[in-house]
Amino acid sequence: MIGVFDSGVGGLTVLHELLVSLPEEDYIYVGDSGHFPYGTKTVEELTARGVAITEFLFEKDIKLLVIACNSATAAAGPLIRKMGAEAGIPVLTVVGPEAEIAGAITESGRIGVLATPATVASRAYARALEDQGRPFTVTEVAAPDLAPIIQGGFPFDEAVLQTVRSYCEPLKEADVDTLVLGCTHYPLVAPMLQRLLGRDVRLVTAGHAIAGAIQRNLAQGGNLAKTGKEGTYNFLVTGDKEGFEKLGTRFLQLPLDGRVEHIELGE
Ligand code: DGL
Repeated sequence: MIGVFDSGVGGLTVLHELLVSLPEEDYIYVGDSGHFPYGTKTVEELTARGVAITEFLFEKDIKLLVIACNSATAAAGPLIRKMGAEAGIPVLTVVGPEAEIAGAITESGRIGVLATPATVASRAYARALEDQGRPFTVTEVAAPDLAPIIQGGFPFDEAVLQTVRSYCEPLKEADVDTLVLGCTHYPLVAPMLQRLLGRDVRLVTAGHAIAGAIQRNLAQGGNLAKTGKEGTYNFLVTGDKEGFEKLGTRFLQLPLDGRVEHIELGE
């Protein structure tokens, strides 16, 4: 079984890519919606949530953990990877894989990063891009309202459009040719972002970037499920069960009814 976690429905964009690449695996997804949003939490708060969820999932006997949340990765990625090394469970995180893809596909070297305030403050993307040793110009934009808009079932009214437009302005001014969607919620509004930025800007998402890395990790360890049939998927949420079920069904285009359970986790 593979464990996946996020603050809410954003990690479903990662789970979707995993279901495409590795359909025979069994998945357990923790949506920490009772503690949403992560994007405005401190490093200490994010670390406490990340550690509690990791300990919980390690007890479920998972063979691999995916941190499907940029904010949690930026704050607690190294610590959770260390917990994984001690437990003998590989931990794969977002940030690194998207930075690698963005660096590989940019032509102008002007890369944008749209992320939560916590992720932007951590400079995780800026550092991952600097580590490539190439002269990129990186424009990072914090979008405090975007994940909450999406998690709230996005109303798509004029005010939402104006908010998203204001996040895109600095990216347009910087003339980026590549935009990292540095929050796993954002692929759910990719059409709106693409429209505001224009066709020439290429969007890089976490799910797509990380699915290949997970496949390679499992293959190298001889741990790929080979059952010849579709695996199972179950969801544990710390917040409202019905709301998650409804949104998740819509985003994943998969029936979630009967598969979502409410849990209390490290309250
Ligand atoms: N989906 C999460 C991320 O990738 C966090 C969104 C939030 O909880 O603010 O950063």
